[in-house]
Amino acid sequence: MKGLFITFEGTDGAGKTTQMQRLAQRLQAQCRAVLLSREPGGCPIAEQIRTVLLDPQNMAMSPVTEALLYAAARSQHVYEVIRPALQRGDIVLCDRFLDSSLAYQAYGRGLGEDLVRRINEPALDGLQPDLTFYLALGAASSLRRSEKRSAPDRLELAGLDLQQKVSLAYGMLAQRESDRIVVVDAAQSIERIHEHIWQAVLRKTQGF
Ligand code: TMP
Repeated sequence: MKGLFITFEGTDGAGKTTQMQRLAQRLQAQCRAVLLSREPGGCPIAEQIRTVLLDPQNMAMSPVTEALLYAAARSQHVYEVIRPALQRGDIVLCDRFLDSSLAYQAYGRGLGEDLVRRINEPALDGLQPDLTFYLALGAASSLRRSEKRSAPDRLELAGLDLQQKVSLAYGMLAQRESDRIVVVDAAQSIERIHEHIWQAVLRKTQGF
């Protein structure tokens, strides 16, 4: 595959969207073809699954149903959007990917990593990000920031306990896969965070 697959991870409100947009602009200024996408979502079928996943009316959803729906949305997104873009040679920037399912479903909900990886295996079909930015922000600040932004979705309604487990899980995953996952302190200014990300992308794209 010719393209480059970069994902952004973190708790809600960590500033992933802003940073993805900044990075996309800078890459486009260098005439790179960039595709911005997000999970759950990124194509019509996956966006419909997103609506079910985030609907605060669906509080009765079981952790396994939740994990399967995230994987189903991912499967369609990989098939319809990500793989074709990488095959064209695009740089794909994606807001969340498998690490979100590991942080939220495996550790946050307590399903365990083995089950969540098995559920996701057919969805990924061997695909994994070349580079991942984990925008690290304390669970409490994260919840405060996202509460200010919009009405809470079903996962935000799960509260601080889930966010804390998710933050711990991200930290652990980043330590374990330090070659792929770059930890960025999300409490810094937008400009400083962007520079950190840009330097890491430059290192990765040398020779790309
Ligand atoms: P977003 O608000 O960043 O778009 O993500 C929606 C919510 O879905 C967010 O609370 C994180 C959660 N999520 C999971 O729990 N597992 C996943 O695999 C993904 C992609 C997102």
